[in-house]
Amino acid sequence: MIKSQNLVKEYGSFRAVDKVSFELRKGDILGFLGPNGAGKSTTMKMITGFLPPTSGTASVGGHDIQSHPIEAKRLLGYLPESGPLYQEMTVLEFLKFAGEIRGMDTGARDKALTRVMEICHLENVRHQTIETLSKGFRQRVGMAQAVLHDPSYLVMDEPTDGLDPNQKQEVRKLIASMASDKAIILSTHILEEVEAMCNRVIIIARGRVLVDETPADLLKRHPRHNAVRLVLQSGGPDAVRETLDRIPQVGKVEALGNGWLIHPKHGEVIKPRVWEAARAGNWPVESLENAPLRLEEVFRELTLAPDAKPEKTKPSQKKSREKVEAA
Ligand SMILES: Nc1ncnc2c1ncn2[C@@H]1O[C@H](COP(=O)(O)OP(=O)(O)OP(=O)(O)O)[C@@H](O)[C@H]1O
Ligand SMILES: [Mg+2]
Repeated sequence: MIKSQNLVKEYGSFRAVDKVSFELRKGDILGFLGPNGAGKSTTMKMITGFLPPTSGTASVGGHDIQSHPIEAKRLLGYLPESGPLYQEMTVLEFLKFAGEIRGMDTGARDKALTRVMEICHLENVRHQTIETLSKGFRQRVGMAQAVLHDPSYLVMDEPTDGLDPNQKQEVRKLIASMASDKAIILSTHILEEVEAMCNRVIIIARGRVLVDETPADLLKRHPRHNAVRLVLQSGGPDAVRETLDRIPQVGKVEALGNGWLIHPKHGEVIKPRVWEAARAGNWPVESLENAPLRLEEVFRELTLAPDAKPEKTKPSQKKSREKVEAA
């Protein structure tokens, strides 16, 4: 289990992470979402022991990351944001080094090397220095390093950032295939990734958790959840709107081209009711479909709400943060 309890990170007077708490069990893939600067990377850095929290605790597999870092890190794979790697090493040298510092014996390490080179498609660049690799290949090296020791817990900060569409797909498949025996946290700005891979989603803004639930439940929050789109061939009867308004489960009805966008009153399934009305009224129906609703719209609504909007950095805050950064 990965456990975060009231994690707080302050830079001077600026609170980047504000009491973030959650628990993650094996089998969970948690999508960590939030606008730029929300505190995702900072939270991940604290969970992986890369950054000490101002207050609060995090543990991995029951080991507190502050008091028992070695035990916790042994169980953990971490792909940091924008892959810090040793540029002058070749891919093979770097991964061998990663295996060595993890204390793997030569046999186990070589086996693991072959496995990760294959799954991350690195065979052709094994003797190339990291500084000469393209961005996407560097990202793959970071990924290979994170899964080298087949850890039970994986924390990945934007794992598909910089990858081409094919490789993005490969990495998503790889992550999904590892899910059954691992607990995985990944941050991303690609919401389809969350819909495709994650069984949990946390949205943070201004360092605070706004939402912690399943992607499906998150979609249910949107007023357009279960809305349907009815398209009629031109010349539909005048009474369509009135009839739709009379269906008890129907809420708002919006005109949309030569059709209607029909919202349920309280998220009910209204498609069969609309069908019945159309059939009874002999409407010239061209199509009746669920209105597409993407996580992206829910995300925008939640994170752009006035009380969730990340604050602009005030000059005084900026100064104190720069001081901290310089330190
Ligand atoms: N060393 C630091 N000194 C001062 N402020 C910092 C430092 N590191 C991070 N911050 C600030 O903390 C906030 C959270 O940053 P973080 O990198 O965690 O955001 P994020 O959610 O990962 O964003 P992104 O989506 O852009 O990666 C930001 O406002 C950032 O500027
Ligand atoms: Mg980040």
